Amino acid sequence: MIENRNIKIVNKVKDMQALSNSIKKDGRLISFVPTMGALHEGHMSLMRTAKEKGDFLVVSIFVNPTQFGPSEDFNKYTRDLDGDIKKISDIGVDVVFFPEVDEIYPEGFETYVEVQELQKPLCGQFRPGHFQGVATVVLKLFNIVKPDIAIFGEKDYQQLLIIKKMVRDLHLEIEIIGMPIIREGDGLALSSRNAYLSDEERLQALALSNSLDNIRRMFNGGENNISNLIKAGTSILNESSIKNIDYLEIRNGSTLKGQEEAKKGDIVAIAAKVGNARLIDNTKL
Ligand code: PAJ
Repeated sequence: MIENRNIKIVNKVKDMQALSNSIKKDGRLISFVPTMGALHEGHMSLMRTAKEKGDFLVVSIFVNPTQFGPSEDFNKYTRDLDGDIKKISDIGVDVVFFPEVDEIYPEGFETYVEVQELQKPLCGQFRPGHFQGVATVVLKLFNIVKPDIAIFGEKDYQQLLIIKKMVRDLHLEIEIIGMPIIREGDGLALSSRNAYLSDEERLQALALSNSLDNIRRMFNGGENNISNLIKAGTSILNESSIKNIDYLEIRNGSTLKGQEEAKKGDIVAIAAKVGNARLIDNTKL
């Protein structure tokens, strides 16, 4: 363990568990924000809420290999612990849990968790094994950090639903809180992967949030025909020459099931590749 600007950095599972046990023995509430680092305002908004909700704030930084596909960006994902620690030095984070990969997945590891139905649609179709990797690492982190409260962003809407379902299905005594998407002034959702974008791609990427806005505006104006809504959203993507669209869909906001027609509370979700970055975004109707 080393001290850094009053933030303690813990690398070992046993040390983190011992620390969390001692905090809990004092009757203090542990709040937790799991991340993969390359931190931005989106992550920081979760931390500020976590700080308010609990007495002891743990942030994890772990680029989790089991949630990346073989041709995805695990190796080039931004890793900058010093930069991350500097960014969060004013928030009041008590501990950063920062393990090595073989600390979390020691040789012989073979146990995985799956939320079977919710993991299928949307990103599940395009990233096989992704949500199994997410659920597994989040359950591990919960068992290591032992939080009372854990905070996730609605930016990863399907992930948030999956974590909530896992917590319910496995009787975990953890309150899961979802927080709104933080965006740039022009609407682009903050993402660690925005760092991959060139200036030109950055402009193209705006089409994601523009297309969601347009769909929401049409819905608010009375249009509930899904194929009309999707057609309008897709034409905005085409205009900015985004070709690589994984999906643009409207689904039930709790079950992610497909709908006959759009209704209030549905989620409009998009994933598209812009340059080398696979970006996701969503909005609630
Ligand atoms: P990561 O992409 O680092 O995101 C960590 C948390 O920050 C997630 O809950 C995500 O939804 C939230 N977040 C990201 N961008 C946001 C934005 N613009 N506004 C609000 N919240 C935002 O999600 C993961 O890491 C991993 O899958 C993890 C849960 C850590 C498991 O490995």
